[in-house]
Amino acid sequence: TWTTEAFVEEAIRNIRARVGDKKVLLALSGGVDSSTLAFLLHRAIGDRLTCMFIDQGFMRKLEPERLVTLFKDQFHIKVEYVMARERFINAIAGVTDPEVKRKRIGAEFIRVFESESKRLGPFDYLAQGTLYPDVIESADTNVDPQTGERVAVKIKSHHNVGGLPKDLQFKLVEPLRKLFKDEVRKVGRSIGLPEEIVQRQPFPGPGLAIRIIGEVTAERLNILRDADLIVRQEVNKQGLYHKLWQAFAVLLADVNSVGVMGDQRTYAHPIVLRCVSSEDGMTADWSKVPYEFLEIVSNRIVNEVKGVNRVVYDITSKPPGTIEWE
Ligand code: XMP
Repeated sequence: TWTTEAFVEEAIRNIRARVGDKKVLLALSGGVDSSTLAFLLHRAIGDRLTCMFIDQGFMRKLEPERLVTLFKDQFHIKVEYVMARERFINAIAGVTDPEVKRKRIGAEFIRVFESESKRLGPFDYLAQGTLYPDVIESADTNVDPQTGERVAVKIKSHHNVGGLPKDLQFKLVEPLRKLFKDEVRKVGRSIGLPEEIVQRQPFPGPGLAIRIIGEVTAERLNILRDADLIVRQEVNKQGLYHKLWQAFAVLLADVNSVGVMGDQRTYAHPIVLRCVSSEDGMTADWSKVPYEFLEIVSNRIVNEVKGVNRVVYDITSKPPGTIEWE
């Protein structure tokens, strides 16, 4: 029978046998897969693991800081923080098309990852948080015809964009590849991953950039971050976090509507509140959250976030809608 303890012990043995005294690189996103992977590898090989965290500037408010503090200071895992906010925002300056936006961000991610891994390396292995469903889809990997080994050609958090350059195709360490998501959570929990990561809601690789409908600018990111923080605070306060698959804000940056505040006319952007229930993200229902929650979120966002004067609730399920707007 499968137990997390037996899995962890065997995974650690296998990692040590495979990696020996070589060095491993891991692209840390802060999601449950890459975080569990980091904990597991750190336990197996200690400081021969380097985690690279690329700050694209598209994360939620205070999350990059929180992530680095948690991994470095609290758990003493080697994390290389790469500040790349300017590069990413420049890479998508003027872009409104969702696919172009995603592709540019993915391509920039690969470029930063490439130069940083050369600067920090060399590394012998790349650790990827490949799960069983990813193995079945198998699009992120090539098999080396000579050795039969799986070789990374893509970075998981950006699986929907272009691959790694030819001279950067690492040998892979994929200790989670036989696991389903719920098993990853159990493993993470059993090796001390904090509950805030174990239970973290999914967050897309391109982050808030695909939740700004229109061009992404620093100012718009700040508006969305502030609105999103209010959503998270109220979701937590109402005990909804674990009941929802995702809850987040979307900024309709190219739309303005008329409002009134005090005796002043306003003309500002709407925020869309998106809350969905789902088992696996493939299908989803819009959530029938309490009216009281909607009321508080709406009042707080309109009163506290400058540049927003209206909040609407997305009542579209998937299909026909997608969970994200882009
Ligand atoms: P959609 O919008 O397609 O999203 O219904 C389904 C789930 O996938 C997440 N998502 C992503 N996750 N990289 C990721 O790691 C991405 O580029 C990406 N795009 C969407 C989305 O948040 C939802 O949970």
